[in-house]
Amino acid sequence: MSAQIDEPLIVQQVDEAAFTRLAAAFYRRMKEDDLIGPMYPPDDWAGAEERFAGFLRFRFHGNMGYIETRGHPRLRGRHLPFAIGEPERDRWLELMKASMEETAIPAAAAGSLFAFFAQVADFMRNEPAAG
Ligand code: HEM
Repeated sequence: MSAQIDEPLIVQQVDEAAFTRLAAAFYRRMKEDDLIGPMYPPDDWAGAEERFAGFLRFRFHGNMGYIETRGHPRLRGRHLPFAIGEPERDRWLELMKASMEETAIPAAAAGSLFAFFAQVADFMRNEPAAG
């Protein structure tokens, strides 16, 4: 992955409250999604949103709330129960891009933040590419 991730810029321009808003916008879309929405626990949307927001506040701002309740993120292991190939990865990123636009993530940091999401999303793939 050649996209540059300027992490200090993300930390500087996207505060904890912005990550909370981003997670809310993202899960509002995810609930309506036909491809990957059904993977999420239908009776715990609020919990899923909070886990994701907490992870982002931890990852960029060192807020330990996520670790205190969930322990080490182990993201790849935690995604193994879900079949994630290229279509699922791309859909996740499409919903994230729209959510970033909605929450007006500052343009200077948006490229880096999206590159971070793209890198992690690609790492979550656990299904061979089609064809
Ligand atoms: C590539 C496509 C992806 C799919 C289909 C996917 C799907 C899921 C699903 C179904 C869950 C369980 C929801 C829950 O109960 O919490 C989950 C959890 C989670 N995902 Fe993803 N995800 C993807 C990519 C990502 C990426 C790129 C990130 C981070 C940058 C991420 C971060 C998380 C976190 C932090 C959790 C909660 C982990 C926990 O504490 O249990 N996911 N994801």
